[in-house]
Amino acid sequence: MKQQRIVNAEPSGELVIQTVAMPKDANAYGDTFGGWLVSQMDVGGAVLAHQRAQNRVTTVAIDQMVFLKPVYIGDLVSCYASIQKTGHSSIAISIQVWAQRMRYGSFDQVAEGVFTFVAIDEEGHPKTVDW
Ligand SMILES: CC(C)(COP(=O)(O)OP(=O)(O)OC[C@H]1O[C@@H](n2cnc3c(N)ncnc32)[C@H](O)[C@@H]1OP(=O)(O)O)[C@@H](O)C(=O)NCCC(=O)NCCS
Repeated sequence: MKQQRIVNAEPSGELVIQTVAMPKDANAYGDTFGGWLVSQMDVGGAVLAHQRAQNRVTTVAIDQMVFLKPVYIGDLVSCYASIQKTGHSSIAISIQVWAQRMRYGSFDQVAEGVFTFVAIDEEGHPKTVDW
């Protein structure tokens, strides 16, 4: 079911990752793969989760993932992360992705999603941390 979306005028959150979409990240039509963008968001969320946990973290869930606009090759892609919720071992991080269009000069929000990470111990079991 299509959800009502609020289009943000500017990014919110902490800049956690910035990269340029390269030809190797493209599909047959010349736009980037959704999976490539999700992996950037996953890394970006893990940066903030790891900083806060000061511990190893792993991704347990991805929710509310929406691709709002295509990402073109050459776009400067920026992920902005903000903490939505913390638990005993888990942290839910909202990630917004924005693209600086090299070809058109515009700056557009292209995706968003909520990534949940869990702090884990040496054996890979959830570990309570002070977020
Ligand atoms: C993450 C993992 C260690 C959690 O282990 P588990 O035994 O399921 O842990 P629990 O059920 O005790 O849940 C641990 C925490 O995760 C949260 N959690 C579990 N499943 C969740 C889900 N689907 N969505 C959101 N949070 C979830 C729980 O609410 C709990 O949070 P809290 O400690 O803050 O209260 C385990 O599922 C795992 O190793 N998964 C694979 C992770 C991985 O490899 N990720 C990379 C994918 S390639």
